[in-house]
Amino acid sequence: MSGLTLATISHSFSARRVLDTVSLVIRPGELVALVGPSGCGKSTLAAIAGGILKPDQGRILRQYQRHGMVFQQSRLLPWASARDNIAYPLTLGKLSRAQITERTHAAAQAVALLPDDLDKLPAQLSGGMRARVAIARALVVEPEFLIFDEPFAALDPALRRRMQDLVLSLAKARGFGGLFITHDLHEAARLSHRIAVMDRQGKGILGSLTPPGTPGARSEAQIFDFTQEARNHPLLHDLLNVDERAVTLDCACDTLGFQRCC
Ligand SMILES: Nc1ncnc2c1ncn2[C@@H]1O[C@H](COP(=O)(O)OP(=O)(O)O)[C@@H](O)[C@H]1O
Ligand SMILES: [Mg+2]
Repeated sequence: MSGLTLATISHSFSARRVLDTVSLVIRPGELVALVGPSGCGKSTLAAIAGGILKPDQGRILRQYQRHGMVFQQSRLLPWASARDNIAYPLTLGKLSRAQITERTHAAAQAVALLPDDLDKLPAQLSGGMRARVAIARALVVEPEFLIFDEPFAALDPALRRRMQDLVLSLAKARGFGGLFITHDLHEAARLSHRIAVMDRQGKGILGSLTPPGTPGARSEAQIFDFTQEARNHPLLHDLLNVDERAVTLDCACDTLGFQRCC
């Protein structure tokens, strides 16, 4: 069982504070979906959770050995084949060549990549295939915790569903927890124990919504009813009504001392 604690995380880019004392506790084995309007700092928090970015302030406690991470942009090595991209994290460890090959093919198979696709460079793959290579690269390390930053956005609905099911079955089989960033409420309701909602200006987590039942065991009707109802929840007002330009405009108004006009 694996969990993650992010405590009072703050971070600025070029003097602009993007995250302001954000705290989020993911209990062992818990899958938490994080939603919030575009530009509110979700990817920045994911990068901090994954150890890619060091926060200006705050504390991170990881109750696991290995996590798998999928970034919003696939971030594949452009000069390496799909196979080598998937295998890359394993080449940094102590596995034999045979073990690396075996685990690479198992991960590729899990995301429905065909052997022919594995020889291709990222530029020769469709957006959906690149996303699947990135997901396979996260799974190949046999992670105990997942950090997924909108990984399925480029996939068509059938494949997206298949990838969601894959995450659910792995989470169930291995009991791992995860932080799953998405802007799709239906996806959040399908995949998580709890949906955490981030403030639109990165000033903390506003609260959480808990869909009925457990991920993987919810019926489509339950998910549909929950998302329909959640659309009227005050916590989700900004997610559904505010876009990045409005936030920027808001910030500009604040900076210039104007009253909000929008
Ligand atoms: N490397 C960076 N340098 C400067 N600003 C950044 C960088 N990464 C993100 N930002 C800014 O931080 C804010 C939050 O971005 P991000 O975390 O990507 O939001 P989200 O994932 O919620 O859309 C945005 O205003 C974005 O422009
Ligand atoms: Mg993002």
